[in-house]
Amino acid sequence: ISLKPYNTFGIDARAAHFVEIRSLEELQELLKTEGSSNKLVLSGGSNMLITEDLEQLVVYLNIKGKKVIEETHNSVLVEAMAGENWHEFVLWTLAQDYGGIENLSLIPGNCGTAPIQNIGAYGVELKDVFDSCEAVEVQTGRVKSFSREDCQFGYRDSFFKNAGKDRYIITSIRLNLTKNEHKLNTSYGAIESELQKQQIEKPTIKDVSEAVISIRQSKLPDPKLIGNSGSFFKNPVLSAEEFREFNQEHPRAPHYQVAEDEFKVPAGWLIEQCGLKGSRFGDAGVHKNQALVLVNYGSASGNEILDLADMIRETVLRKFGIEIVPEVNIISSIR
Ligand code: EPU
Repeated sequence: ISLKPYNTFGIDARAAHFVEIRSLEELQELLKTEGSSNKLVLSGGSNMLITEDLEQLVVYLNIKGKKVIEETHNSVLVEAMAGENWHEFVLWTLAQDYGGIENLSLIPGNCGTAPIQNIGAYGVELKDVFDSCEAVEVQTGRVKSFSREDCQFGYRDSFFKNAGKDRYIITSIRLNLTKNEHKLNTSYGAIESELQKQQIEKPTIKDVSEAVISIRQSKLPDPKLIGNSGSFFKNPVLSAEEFREFNQEHPRAPHYQVAEDEFKVPAGWLIEQCGLKGSRFGDAGVHKNQALVLVNYGSASGNEILDLADMIRETVLRKFGIEIVPEVNIISSIR
């Protein structure tokens, strides 16, 4: 079948073998027979670039459900199954007036994949509200619970991208949210100015969500209209020494200090400075409002997007001496 409807980049690659999974039991049953074979597990398909037709089994994880596990006066533990759409889940929490993930509104993808890359935006990361997740061990079919510590979260990073890669399939997540008394996080410049623009002085969690939605809609292409996987690259992190040198040559470059001796530089700025923002090669392009986002205008192949990404990486390296690495998973065929 064509994987076009299953990846937000809209790449029209074919899967030789495809199975949809709707429950934990179905997944365990599948793993009994397919446990050791090569496979691609996909859910929202929002963080991957498929470069060719795939020989391996594609497992479409579509387990639904969400509920409150327990609550006190000012906190609530909620659970979402892996196949729940992330943004719909955020809207559901807002409708109950649960706070904590309003800054993560409109992030494409499903709940089960959120911990893998520790999704984050506008000053909040999943790890800030994360309680635990359950995952099935691929080899044994056993269910295992992972605490926040177990997940080893980092910037767009976790255990599931490293030692746990390909070993576990996350089936549900649990988040600790606030009730009645919310702690807003509006320090990110873009949110502050959006709230000011709307003349909101005492924002609610819904106001913050709406501000985030309007910022994202103004910068980021809607995958339903133009194929994309959000930020294609991670923002590079420079050591204090590397940063000093960079800053001397480019004093106007935006940057954030992320640790005592670590500075993050926006890859979108670097790419824009190379004159690549808005450029287009066939149906593969660099988004006109956000240079960190690569887009598929219709029928670009995965390899055309990958070629564009390689060209961008080389250009940035040549101009700035800085290596940028993809944030999205590059998927190729495995026999
Ligand atoms: N910038 C440019 N040109 C561009 C893009 C950005 O000069 O084409 C500059 C902006 O002016 C700003 C800075 O770079 O000074 C940062 O831009 P922005 O606020 O848009 O955020 P970002 O660093 O490009 C990251 C995340 C996004 C997340 C935003 C907001 C990564 C890889 N990306 O982007 O996450 O929404 O911050 O928190 O960390 C994603 O991961 O898919 C994603 C969209």
